[in-house]
Amino acid sequence: MAAKKLLILPGDGIGVEVMAQVRRIIDWMSKKRKIEFDVSEGLLGGAAYDVHGTPFPAETLAAAMAADAVLLGAVGGPKWDDLPFDKKPERGLLGIRKEMGLFANLRPATVLDALADASTLKPDVVAGLDIMILRELTGGLYFGEPRGIETLADGSRRGFNTLVYTTAEIVRIGRVAFELARKRNKKLCSVDKANVLECTVLWREEMIKLQKDEFPDVELTHMYVDNAAMQLVRNPKQFDVMVTENMFGDILSDCAAMLTGSLGMLPSASLGAADADGKRKALYEPVHGSAPDIAGKDMANPLATIMSFAMCLRYSFDMAAEADMIETAVKNVLKGGLRTADIMQVGKAKVSTTVMGEAVVRELDKMV
Ligand code: IPM
Ligand code: MG
Repeated sequence: MAAKKLLILPGDGIGVEVMAQVRRIIDWMSKKRKIEFDVSEGLLGGAAYDVHGTPFPAETLAAAMAADAVLLGAVGGPKWDDLPFDKKPERGLLGIRKEMGLFANLRPATVLDALADASTLKPDVVAGLDIMILRELTGGLYFGEPRGIETLADGSRRGFNTLVYTTAEIVRIGRVAFELARKRNKKLCSVDKANVLECTVLWREEMIKLQKDEFPDVELTHMYVDNAAMQLVRNPKQFDVMVTENMFGDILSDCAAMLTGSLGMLPSASLGAADADGKRKALYEPVHGSAPDIAGKDMANPLATIMSFAMCLRYSFDMAAEADMIETAVKNVLKGGLRTADIMQVGKAKVSTTVMGEAVVRELDKMV
């Protein structure tokens, strides 16, 4: 079998530190499971701007398109706050999602037993939680045109963005959602704001049609996004798969992340359309950001990024056994009482990013 081409983009801030821990897991997989990876590194975000004067260099795009999968840390930081909008690190992230056509963003939120009381919510509300938020990632309010800030005749200014989806865009994310639901509990909740926004009236109509035409075995419900935010905090276990617009998904997934105790625990996968061989372009990244306040201090939680690599093995390389091994190793480390600062609990041992990464490797070692 050909070596699996992995492009690693550590990005900025804690992205660099957490990715260093993922490198350990990749090395372990090569050595102990004889999986051949062809790993290269590239620049994205502020790190790319510092070298190339752009947050999304052409060579990063070329490398990403040639890779079997991309692993991303995080981008952004105060250092780049004063740059013009199109040079900001975030443009690099949005650019790579758009250029690779990664329209389907899977953000699972699972509460691991050991962390049920790390959440700010009552343990019985979140214990055993296992939901999947599917966020549309290349359309909607984030990418709609026209957009901008203009100066009016009277000298005042007007800022505007556009919420827009075509039926084709709705149907392709809808299909991914229904297929995910089919593999889980056959329950899909589509989140919109159809009481106010026409674009999401269309969204709802297309979801209903798709369910009738192709997925009659999946139960489809609808919820307004404000209610969904409230229900996620009130009773999150009522959900299984949720599918929603780009910005709604951005907001709801941060909310869902906190149900699990910390943003530092949530992995994500961003997938493109399947080609003739069924292969999808794919990028894996933690849901958390670059956390400039703790960058360089060896205290960030590497588990979301490590579990993003597990998702990579599962979705891009069909290696469910190895993905399971990583997830089990993470669970065991937590069961053993190790915690990074973000998930620290009374009576547990606070450890650094590096020690956490090493501990996951040690747990993996026990499995072979
Ligand atoms: C996310 C992040 C990004 C987004 C930012 C960094 C541009 O919040 O992946 O959720 O808004 O999509
Ligand atoms: Mg976000």
